[in-house]
Amino acid sequence: MSKSDNPKPGAEAANKMWGGRFSAPPAEIMEEINASVGFDKVLAPQDIRGSKAHAAMLAEQGIISKADAREITRGLSQVADEIESGAFKFSRALEDVHMNVENRLREIVGPAAGRLHTARSRNDQVALDFRLYIRDRLDEFDGALHVLLHALAAKAERHAATVMPGFTHLQPAQPVTFGHHLMAYVEMFARDRSRFADARSRLNECPLGAAALAGTSFPIDRHMTAAALGFDRPTANSLDSVSDRDFVLETLAAATICAVHLSRLAEEIVVWMTPQFGFVRLSDGLTTGSSIMPQKRNPDAAELSRAKVGRIAGSFQSLVLVMKGLPLAYSKDMQEDKEVTLDALSSLALALTAMTRMVEDMTPVEDALRAAAGRGYSTATDLADWLVRTLKLPFRDAHHVTGSIVKDAERQGVDLDQLPLKAMQAIEPRISNDVYSVLSVENSVASRTSYGGTAPQNVRKMARTWLKRLEKAGRTG
Ligand code: ARG
Repeated sequence: MSKSDNPKPGAEAANKMWGGRFSAPPAEIMEEINASVGFDKVLAPQDIRGSKAHAAMLAEQGIISKADAREITRGLSQVADEIESGAFKFSRALEDVHMNVENRLREIVGPAAGRLHTARSRNDQVALDFRLYIRDRLDEFDGALHVLLHALAAKAERHAATVMPGFTHLQPAQPVTFGHHLMAYVEMFARDRSRFADARSRLNECPLGAAALAGTSFPIDRHMTAAALGFDRPTANSLDSVSDRDFVLETLAAATICAVHLSRLAEEIVVWMTPQFGFVRLSDGLTTGSSIMPQKRNPDAAELSRAKVGRIAGSFQSLVLVMKGLPLAYSKDMQEDKEVTLDALSSLALALTAMTRMVEDMTPVEDALRAAAGRGYSTATDLADWLVRTLKLPFRDAHHVTGSIVKDAERQGVDLDQLPLKAMQAIEPRISNDVYSVLSVENSVASRTSYGGTAPQNVRKMARTWLKRLEKAGRTG
């Protein structure tokens, strides 16, 4: 490092990047609370990408020489290699990833490195890096959700006619099909995917060039850096550019809803796996045993996926509270956006992958599902509908008559389709033998042909439509 880089006497002991007006180094506690490099070092690839685009723009605009820009780019590539290979030594004394990268750049290329920060501040730099990082993670979720949607729709198509009990209040309600149940999750995760896509489109503006908060007097070209980094346009207001974290909040909000959906599916798998239900089987690789109870087969991956929503929703809450009431523009509070977000996004990625594997792996136990589907007088609504359709009873009266028939079946300890015609006629004399045609679970589901209903033909069609749509859209659609 040349002498002119650090001109003030006594400043050697202070921070190399901003220590000019200081004559003493930070106190230990100052360094400890201030440093973010322990977690923001994951932003190094984005930081280097942003710096390369910035240097190219500065040279194009004649703000730095082309030779300096070349040196900076060469040095940054070396820094990137060192970080990737693990050779790079991050230093807490240098606070954050931005100053660690720049400091190493200066060691590699000398004084040219000092020109990189022209017309830039760490405030727009971190806003840029985090946007790039979140955008990468959003693209990753898009791919992961594509795979999950495909797994659900493929399994749904295979089980479009596999009957199972449908529940409300977790009480048997009406028979549905296993495929229909899975397709409900397709709708949920497709909405999650579109929420992430929506967040991405609003995020995709480039804050670089806002500098500390007010913009810069250098003749920069913000459109050039925005385009080079794949953004749709530069952000429009310099104060907003450095103080906005909506893009993180939106991502965490969408992640929270997605995690809620994963937790509901996870909970169903946990319940379905109990011997009391016995609705699905998972293979050995996706279950665990107990160290004391030899018979156990536990759905730990589903339980952990169910639990992840705690951290993810907590991260959203945490950042909402950090941002609440913050005056414009940048405040160091905003450095607290990272740890919670990184944790939330990694948790979601993990849960998405684990749940996808379970969906692919899980086998419905068709006999158990069929038997359970008929239990609990699940075709009582079909009986009431028959009374309306055939005997022209008003639905309320049909409901009442059916209630009395269910009560009688309960007293006799039989299912509805086992109850003798005479017993039904004792309650409503006009009931004929034809009624039995609607009391089987197969007929019940087959009759639910209304749009969005559970009839196997509907489910098959919807699953195929989704599979086609997914195949056409590919991973980025
Ligand atoms: N590490 C900081 C953060 O994550 C970078 C921005 C620092 N800006 C500043 N003016 N001290 O927010």
